Amino acid sequence: MKLFETRSEDETIDLGRRIAGELPRRAVVLLIGNLGAGKTTLAKGIISGLSAAEPQEVTSPTFTLIHEYDGGRVFHVDLYRLDTAQQVATLGLEEIFDREAVVLIEWGEKFRELMPAQRIEITLSAGNASNPEKRQITLLS
Ligand SMILES: Nc1ncnc2c1ncn2[C@@H]1O[C@H](COP(=O)(O)OP(=O)(O)OP(=O)(O)O)[C@@H](O)[C@H]1O
Ligand SMILES: [Mg+2]
Repeated sequence: MKLFETRSEDETIDLGRRIAGELPRRAVVLLIGNLGAGKTTLAKGIISGLSAAEPQEVTSPTFTLIHEYDGGRVFHVDLYRLDTAQQVATLGLEEIFDREAVVLIEWGEKFRELMPAQRIEITLSAGNASNPEKRQITLLS
């Protein structure tokens, strides 16, 4: 397990870039944490580290569900709005998991049984009242 701490949005993006450099070409990464914990922010760093996208071009897939970068080298998925395994099944995630791609998934822990056993889990915990911009980030692979 690796433990990190960041103190701003920019630091979390930088951390994402560093994590990107350590990821295998093929990986499923669950981004876990409450609303506003910084999952999408970390994804901005990871995706900009892996693809031609700039952090500000990486937007939340909350409504679009899946965003694809660099012709399928990187995927960013958000399952927040889905409620049932049946809804998730319509997305065709298995096909994406079979590719040589890094697949980042927000709210994937809602459907653990649909996630591959071999995966990386990054958990972000939000700050507190005296340190609202502090985030503790653990990486388990
Ligand atoms: N250290 C930090 N790291 C990341 N974000 C931070 C930090 N400090 C403050 N923030 C703020 O917290 C918010 C994180 O939002 P973000 O969309 O990344 O969260 P999320 O976990 O993806 O939420 P959701 O569950 O709604 O998708 C942003 O507004 C960001 O500016
Ligand atoms: Mg998000």
